[in-house]
Amino acid sequence: MEAMDIFLATTKEISYLIMNHPFYSAVGGFICFVSLLTFYCRLTLGICDCDQDLIGKTVLITGASAGIGKATACDLARRKARVILACRNVAKAEKVAKDIRSSTGNENVVVRHLDLCSFKSVRKCAKEILETEERLHILINNAGITDLGKEREITDDGCEKIMQSNHLGHFLLTLLLLDLLKKSSPSRIINVSSEAYNMANLDINDMKNDKKLSNFSVYAISKLCNILFTKELALRLSGTGVTVNSLHPGCVKTDIMKENKGFFVLLSKCMFSTLAKTSEEGAQTTIHLTVAPELEKTTGKYFSDCKEKIVKGKANDMTLAKSLFEISEKITGATFALT
Ligand SMILES: NC(=O)c1ccc[n+]([C@@H]2O[C@H](COP(=O)([O-])OP(=O)(O)OC[C@H]3O[C@@H](n4cnc5c(N)ncnc54)[C@H](OP(=O)(O)O)[C@@H]3O)[C@@H](O)[C@H]2O)c1
Repeated sequence: MEAMDIFLATTKEISYLIMNHPFYSAVGGFICFVSLLTFYCRLTLGICDCDQDLIGKTVLITGASAGIGKATACDLARRKARVILACRNVAKAEKVAKDIRSSTGNENVVVRHLDLCSFKSVRKCAKEILETEERLHILINNAGITDLGKEREITDDGCEKIMQSNHLGHFLLTLLLLDLLKKSSPSRIINVSSEAYNMANLDINDMKNDKKLSNFSVYAISKLCNILFTKELALRLSGTGVTVNSLHPGCVKTDIMKENKGFFVLLSKCMFSTLAKTSEEGAQTTIHLTVAPELEKTTGKYFSDCKEKIVKGKANDMTLAKSLFEISEKITGATFALT
């Protein structure tokens, strides 16, 4: 009884403070807001409930050494696919492959070196795949960087680093693997984008970021490019049995912001630690697009929380999508052609 009295008195005291003191009102309001947002995020979490296996299927995932890519690779290995982890850090990826083999019992998990920031590396990786793989049924373009708060970097190919890893490297890899994907049809290409595309202001004539936009702006642009590339490629692949879709994985607690600097990064890291999904939860939409039988013919669409989502603004501009495709061909030296 005494404990109940203390509890009631404390609750009354806290309620009084929250209602009558501006500072505590603001803190209380913020806590309520975060709690409601957390509740909403949990409620709308998309989970892939399809138990389709992938026996006889070969999947290539870029950036599978960490975060969403690693969680996706693990799930697809559990479904008995042959899984190729295409990663820039081979030693790190080999450890991940070993863990996946032992946790899933699937020995068919291999590592290939791929540095998306080098067109030479992308071409070498694609050549190896074409020489060693009979079939490729699923290509998941997942790797990505934000580099928030860091200096603008130009790669040896003369491209802005974020654009090259998030869009141009994947563009080249995809075009080089298209014939194999077509030969293996029905096959699927999945591009991991982000809702950040909404904040993008793409200038097709400034692919190298000579305007020196912030890294966040370039990240947003690269994610818009993922969606525009998806839409244009879907048009060009019509009737081939190869589909291509893009997705937003949600806010996911991964290493993507680990080395980032700056006040807003710190703030978003704090928000992320309470609101964000785990990597396994963040991988659900990619897995859904990979395995759902009802999506076999779905192409050119964007998904979030395992559901199709209508894109807004520039992401619907098909003239821009065509120009982006053509300029990406010019920069990477690849041309769209199916034999
Ligand atoms: N996390 C989120 O909240 C969020 C939200 C929206 C969209 N996304 C998108 O989800 C995707 C996966 O991100 P994540 O959160 O899982 O990030 P992450 O944990 O940092 O993993 C990124 C992966 O990409 C690889 N990578 C980076 N640069 C590369 C390069 N040049 N060549 C080859 N691989 C490279 C990394 O390799 P290392 O292991 O060697 O670093 C790592 O395996 C990204 O496309 C990101 O834009 C994430």
